[in-house]
Amino acid sequence: MLKRRVEELRRIIEYHNYRYYVLDSPEISDGEYDSLMRELMELEKKHPELITPDSPTQRVGAKPLDTFPPMAHRLPLLSIDNAMNKHELEEFHDRVAKWLVKKDICYCCEPKFDGLAVEIIYENGIFSRGGTRGDGTTGEDVSQNLKTIKTVPLRLLGKEIPGLLEVRGEVVMYKDEFKRLNESRALSGEPLFANPRNAAAGSLRQLDPSITAERSLVFFAYAISEPLALGMEKQSQVLDMLFSLGFKVNPERKVCKGIREVMDFVEYMHEKRDALPYEIDGVVIKVDSLSDQEILGNKARSPRWCVAYKFPPDQATTMLRDIILQVGRTGAITPVAVLEPVRLAGVTISRATLHNEDEIRKKDIRIGDLVLVQRAGDVIPEVVMPVKSRRSGNESIFNMPVTCPVCNSKLVKDGALWRCINMSCPAIIKESIYHFASKDAMDIDGLGRRTISQMVDRLNIKHVSDLYRLTKDDLRELEGFKDRSIENLITSIERSKDVGLDRFIYALGIQHVGQVAARDIAKKFSTLERFLEAGFDDLRDIRGIGEEVAGSIISFLNNKENRKVIEDLVCLGVRVRPVEEKAGGRRPFEGKKVCFTGMLENMPRSRARAKVTEMGGEVVSSVSRNLDLLVVGKNPGSKYDKALSLGVTIIDERTFIEMLEADQ
Ligand code: IVH
Repeated sequence: MLKRRVEELRRIIEYHNYRYYVLDSPEISDGEYDSLMRELMELEKKHPELITPDSPTQRVGAKPLDTFPPMAHRLPLLSIDNAMNKHELEEFHDRVAKWLVKKDICYCCEPKFDGLAVEIIYENGIFSRGGTRGDGTTGEDVSQNLKTIKTVPLRLLGKEIPGLLEVRGEVVMYKDEFKRLNESRALSGEPLFANPRNAAAGSLRQLDPSITAERSLVFFAYAISEPLALGMEKQSQVLDMLFSLGFKVNPERKVCKGIREVMDFVEYMHEKRDALPYEIDGVVIKVDSLSDQEILGNKARSPRWCVAYKFPPDQATTMLRDIILQVGRTGAITPVAVLEPVRLAGVTISRATLHNEDEIRKKDIRIGDLVLVQRAGDVIPEVVMPVKSRRSGNESIFNMPVTCPVCNSKLVKDGALWRCINMSCPAIIKESIYHFASKDAMDIDGLGRRTISQMVDRLNIKHVSDLYRLTKDDLRELEGFKDRSIENLITSIERSKDVGLDRFIYALGIQHVGQVAARDIAKKFSTLERFLEAGFDDLRDIRGIGEEVAGSIISFLNNKENRKVIEDLVCLGVRVRPVEEKAGGRRPFEGKKVCFTGMLENMPRSRARAKVTEMGGEVVSSVSRNLDLLVVGKNPGSKYDKALSLGVTIIDERTFIEMLEADQ
């Protein structure tokens, strides 16, 4: 009886984990999830004999290790040859075509993750162990840490599960999580990670799994060892199978016929690159047919059936003219490089971050140096290193000033950072207002840095709440403000008074609380009143909120001046909208175009169509390039061939039913 409940709880919890982390489509609130988890933990505590390694409670809580044991890969994890331009891609295709003695070749194209390759082994559907790629033959056994990653299934879904499954894929850190992590490291003076890949690697290679657990890593599966032995015929089918086993699989993938279609996909991904939540550095192009892959075989280190098209790096060299100091809204002082303007990834830049004093010293960057600058994804441009061979001897070493460049008060060293701790420093006030008014916060249109600067200097604005006290006469004092612009600004300030709780929390500018955390917090507390009453433990209960963040929120809320500002905002008419409950029902086909072909054996076509519509999808009757999914029944028609040639994702009836049922 008890055993049955424990097992039931495990399945329910893993199912909701899957909805939340793999499908990005949760069905229950965090609170409901937590209470299921608590019930399971209590039962397991009372009856430890019922604990199994695949229980969701076992994701966290393992003891820190001294070192990682080595993990030998049964079959090597090969690397991939690069193609740096279109010509090299054509050469790859020519080699493949010659070897296979045919012209028409289908390629499965997938974004190339810029993360950390790992292999995870499942025995009879249960997570057994997993390790990093290492040198391809032997990596490090990081099983404990991999188990903390919510997109790593502890038990595979579905009925047909192979006895042994070696899954390969990539552990990545999403860009917003990377930003959040670095922001909080900057504030506590810890060294910053250079990019999301280093952050993912640093987080996965933690001896203490509880640190990994706090880092919100994501695992994407893209391959299995020996797919032919499991009856697979195509790489694209392998991806579908991995998805139906419960793995997160990149939806950005396409089967392309011929190299021209591959090139179109490469260009499409290049354009989409910045909009993706994770970093990619190219596109991996794999011969889709697994038997053709077998014929092509491997070279010493890389397969002949696969190539990685690498995007050109967003780097450039230019002259470092000066180093100036910027005061952030938390008082943190950031040295900023003033550059000879240079084109980088389609825009001209004249500023780049130097992170902090230690970085400048470590990299030995001097004023007057020729420097290498780079921009990765949507991260701000940074100085990578000086080109020392080009020094003339006239470069000068940068010395960190001891006083704030704005208010002149003495700077205080805080870890690797220098900080201005004068809370009435005009720079800090201006930056807090700028953040408050920004697009993702209160979205006050027309309130830019220049206007804010004048408001603080001339109108004696001290707090964000003062914005709502401004009159037309006040604005007349500001340079460049006339009837029309005054009217516009007053209207946008007025309009910003109606704001959702998530944006409002973000706007407050609490240390460590970025947009993602603000959204999670808003979801948990629903209303401003409840948020203001938040306790440390309530905050810690939120997934992704660690001790440091919770502590920062509590000290913000305990500060009398902050409470007064929030009270004033409300008195001045800011209405903080409670978080609306999401409309019920699960929507795995949300926004997707779905088409059917052939006879379904388990349900009438009409019912299948109704299900898709009910779950957010659109049923269409013909196959085109923008079709998302073709469901294939028995004796499919020409739609099947067309979908194949267009590279549309194709699933069989069983997978379709699993998608529906995953939803019961
Ligand atoms: S397939 C032999 N697919 O790229 C081919 N690899 O430079 C097996 N990588 O270490 C790998 N995204 O970690 C494959 N969609 C993708 C990938 C991918 C990134 C990594 C992989 C490998 C590296 C090679």
